[in-house]
Amino acid sequence: MNKISIDLSNLKNFISEEQILRLQAEIDVHYPTLFNKTGKGNDFLGWVDLPSQIDQDLFKKIEDDVTRLQKISEIFVVIGIGGSYLGARAVIEALGHQFYDLLDEKKYPYIIYAGHQLSEDYMAELLEILDKKDYSLAVISKSGTTTEPAIAFRILKNHIEKKYGKDGAKQRIIAITDKQRGALKNLADREGYPTYVVPDDVGGRYSVLTPVGLFPIAMAGFDIRKLVQGAADMEAYCRNAKTIADNPVMAYVAARNALYRSGKQVDILVNYLPNLFYLTEWWKQLYGESEGKEGKGIFPAGVGFTTDLHSMGQYIQEGPRIIFETVISVEKSKRTVTIPMADDDADGLNYLAGKRIGYVNHMAEKGTAMAHVDGNVPNIRIVLPEIDEYNLGQLIYFFELACGLSGYMLGVNPFNQPGVEAYKKNMFALLGKPK
Ligand code: PA5
Repeated sequence: MNKISIDLSNLKNFISEEQILRLQAEIDVHYPTLFNKTGKGNDFLGWVDLPSQIDQDLFKKIEDDVTRLQKISEIFVVIGIGGSYLGARAVIEALGHQFYDLLDEKKYPYIIYAGHQLSEDYMAELLEILDKKDYSLAVISKSGTTTEPAIAFRILKNHIEKKYGKDGAKQRIIAITDKQRGALKNLADREGYPTYVVPDDVGGRYSVLTPVGLFPIAMAGFDIRKLVQGAADMEAYCRNAKTIADNPVMAYVAARNALYRSGKQVDILVNYLPNLFYLTEWWKQLYGESEGKEGKGIFPAGVGFTTDLHSMGQYIQEGPRIIFETVISVEKSKRTVTIPMADDDADGLNYLAGKRIGYVNHMAEKGTAMAHVDGNVPNIRIVLPEIDEYNLGQLIYFFELACGLSGYMLGVNPFNQPGVEAYKKNMFALLGKPK
């Protein structure tokens, strides 16, 4: 297995190897409870063996529905919020052409997201587009009762039924929800929509490798079998690697918790590729909802360099010294662009002529890491050979397992999110929701 790896060399000015290795004893207590499913929140540990246990018939069912829908859709709308859309979006945007909507030839439907906010203008503008394009949609909600996607689906259900008739709409709607409970499940059964199940023991933010993520990813034309294979290989590796020295998940968790205990409270996920923006959003949700509770937790933030070196870079270099970074370092670009020679060298860049932009990006990454170490910002590098389905599958499983373990090291239940209810209670009271 050509696996992703972890580089802790930029920590040595801040925490010693000894401080990291000392956490092995704690890890030895918590790590097995993830795989044995005996730790806190253990009714939500289904994601731990999901890649290796996935039902092979599920791939076929998804591929059949996807092939049918791809033929009749220019646009596929993914309705969902939080864990019910971020994983799919992270993978689709990481793998896709960054100007897909502007390509003349589109082999697969263009994916649009809805139900992840309450912007009236966004919805009006989306409807304007959907008036003119052929589309289908997936409504994704584990609970089936979340306000934002429920409102979006109510509106789009009306639209799609008006456009294609009730029977036509039925051929274009997929419901992904709980097996038994919830308003969406009841509605899907009543209307006869094809339905996919979000397993009971997998929470929203850990659900990207269930139909929640797999269906939209396949719809966008990507290989969900390779994605799950990457995760399954990482699962198999992590099951058997028992020490911080040979297990990258343990190394990551030990490093970030040693940094946290030394006073570093903010972990910034850094990428150098704009197509990883939503991977960062997915990661922020995973770590924020899992760790931030009971007055504890490492604050997960995100930046995209070199863009944000011209905005947030100042704060990171010289602001409060409470930050460390997790840098996603990708070794190989998918495409090649070389910097040309200019006759007049007016911009003084001829010294870079013949070099690839990716090379300059790598040097920017190296230079930034050194500057941040000098500025008292330690950084952990997660190294990916390249961005493809297989490596993203590995990375997803890596971050999920690390998040579960890190939550246990902090002493919290990483699989609930009681704090999310507070805004809902106030909003419902203000809206006059009947009791
Ligand atoms: O991780 C979680 O559980 C949440 O972020 C949910 O994914 C999010 O609130 C959406 O919930 P649901 O899928 O029930 O609509």
